Amino acid sequence: MTPQQQPISQPQRIDRYVGQYAERAVGMVASEIRALFAVAARPEIVSLAGGSPYVSALPLDVVGGMIGQLIASQGATALQYCTAQGDAGLRERICDVMALEQVRAHPDEVVVTVGSQQALDLMARIFIDPGDVVLVEAPSYVGALGAFASYQADMVHVAMDDDGLIPEALEEAIRRVAATGRRAKFLYTVPNFHNPAGVTLAAGRRHRILDICHRAGLLVVEDNPYGLLGFDGDPLRALRADDTDGVVYLGTFSKTFAAGVRVGWAVAPTAIREKLILAAESAVLCHSSFAQLTVREYLNTQPWREQVKDFRELYRERRDATLSALSGMMPSECHWTRPAGGFYVWLRLPDGINAKAMLPRAISSRVAYVPGTGFYADGSGTQYARLCYSLPDPDRINEGIRRLAAVIETEMQLRDDFGPAPVS
Ligand SMILES: Cc1ncc(COP(=O)(O)O)c(C=O)c1O
Repeated sequence: MTPQQQPISQPQRIDRYVGQYAERAVGMVASEIRALFAVAARPEIVSLAGGSPYVSALPLDVVGGMIGQLIASQGATALQYCTAQGDAGLRERICDVMALEQVRAHPDEVVVTVGSQQALDLMARIFIDPGDVVLVEAPSYVGALGAFASYQADMVHVAMDDDGLIPEALEEAIRRVAATGRRAKFLYTVPNFHNPAGVTLAAGRRHRILDICHRAGLLVVEDNPYGLLGFDGDPLRALRADDTDGVVYLGTFSKTFAAGVRVGWAVAPTAIREKLILAAESAVLCHSSFAQLTVREYLNTQPWREQVKDFRELYRERRDATLSALSGMMPSECHWTRPAGGFYVWLRLPDGINAKAMLPRAISSRVAYVPGTGFYADGSGTQYARLCYSLPDPDRINEGIRRLAAVIETEMQLRDDFGPAPVS
């Protein structure tokens, strides 16, 4: 064959490297509902699915001017490599942010990451060998489950209720794991305005959880992206504020400033912090100086506390719209959580209704949500759906919930006529 005749870039029907992947990559598969979400992004569909912040509420022209100014005045630094631990000035500002949750940290204790998602990955990288147990809430943030699964963790769920993680369930899970001769590497928890459950760990349970973990020698990973987005009163005291040796705190600017800058952080006991820095170095050398200086400049020059307050008000209005639409329109067999902050309501569908099976019908009715199964490592959660109210305005939320209620009613009718949907 001459070079011109060679069939280059023919689409491959099968993966020719299929037998060569590392074992941990075999389980990495696209979610079955990813294709549906591509459709859900269409404007005629009210999406209560994605967990994106409403960045349009930022003064984009001001932020743009600030970034132009940053490059003009500090471009040689902003466009250069930096250290893997992150910019020292930014780490100082991060300590100010955490002080709002009573965390007293020194900038040396902070490691900057690419969003808190990378901190989850780094924690998994330095702690998890294949088969190691990690305790996770039931349900749990899908990105954390994905990060831990990619290091082949064995995830054991711990039950929650309307007051967050249940201390007795945690004790029981620790006992159950010990009975198999193993010890969990850490407990992963989102104490405030949980994704996806929309609940908050009650003040009275916080010491109890720390105490149980301390006695069991169990490290706590406190993931707190929504901590400053509470609708009532001051920010809640972080777990890390009461236990600096036993808690790794993860924070992010994704929900309080901009998800697109991809800047988060971890605060960890010294030895863990050193490992995190080494792991970050081998993953990315250093994080984006440009992104870090953008955030530093934003915190130094812009009224960021007022902006967070504006975000809070905006999300409170959307939460209110969601709750009032749900109570006005959902069938009485549905139940849902009432978040005091953050982005999410966790909806329990009537018995015999499968949220994943219902999703294509919902999308045909022009409303989208995330089925609950994605938030469990063990395939449970079929009866649940996560509703996210951060992006649509109150009118769209109302319309979306009206459509969803109608879909659920049709499903109930089908269930009553033909029996429950098979659980897949
Ligand atoms: C609980 C939780 N943790 C971590 C993340 C990751 O956020 P980021 O990587 O943008 O900081 C999210 C994002 O939605 C989240 O909800």
